[in-house]
Amino acid sequence: MRARASAPGKILLLGEHAVVYGHPALAAALHRGVRIEIAESPDASIAVRSPQGISPPPELLEAALEMAERIGAPARFRAEIETELPLGAGLGSSAAVGVALARALSQLAGRACTDERATDLALGFERHFHGAPSGVDPAISANGGVILFRRGEPPRIERVRLRAPVFLCVALTGIARGTRSTVLPLSERRAARPDVYDPMLASLGELARGGATAIERGDLLDLGARFDQAQEVLRLLGVSCPELDDLVGLLRKAGALGAKLTGAGGGGAAIGLARDRGHAAALSEAVASARLESFVAEIAS
Ligand code: MEV
Repeated sequence: MRARASAPGKILLLGEHAVVYGHPALAAALHRGVRIEIAESPDASIAVRSPQGISPPPELLEAALEMAERIGAPARFRAEIETELPLGAGLGSSAAVGVALARALSQLAGRACTDERATDLALGFERHFHGAPSGVDPAISANGGVILFRRGEPPRIERVRLRAPVFLCVALTGIARGTRSTVLPLSERRAARPDVYDPMLASLGELARGGATAIERGDLLDLGARFDQAQEVLRLLGVSCPELDDLVGLLRKAGALGAKLTGAGGGGAAIGLARDRGHAAALSEAVASARLESFVAEIAS
């Protein structure tokens, strides 16, 4: 018996880190993601094909076997994962693997897998890699489109309807890092000085909430201003890095309506907001002239 499934990666438009502390985050699905094929086999194994050929984390098989047990799927399977997402770039590769795996293993077990169930299973899977994830990455990967997310049991997920597609340039620093490397140090800084950190985290949540209204109205100037403000706060929170600051500066200089890091920071990717597809391609060219990789992302509901 064989099963196939896929799931998209994500971009956090606004609200990363704040979402860990119960504030809203605005997340969008990417058109690129992961595909999984699973077949029953005499023993359990997982193979990953990724753009950079990076070897998968050692916890991957253990996390997948735990998911199979939760689903009631056979414990012996061979999974082949093909990802179009750079690993450790903040584009939701591990959550997308979790969602696709949940769907494929459910097929193998002959069980239904709603988006809600896939989100929940993928969150359990992500905990093997991320310590204390908020759940926004699996939620956007399972639901697609654009959502305003708040963590909770169950999480609150509001679909955001866009007037028109939004185009971004997603630029990669080339520095891969795990989410833990910024989330845990920030939680320690916050525990020591909640008076300093909590208002900043709350302001990121407010920027995300207003960003949902801006994107619904098609107000790109307002959304871009929110990107710039969020980047400033993220930098003060200590989750940016010189390479991301440079990339954000480059995107702004090339004419982005706003630019910021996306995801956990400390490396990974930055996003620049464009007026339209052609403008996003021009931003990508500016990034290429700095010898860095990027791609154009179209966000739609
Ligand atoms: C990671 O994509 C976003 C963070 O807010 C962590 C999380 O929400 O789990 C940094």
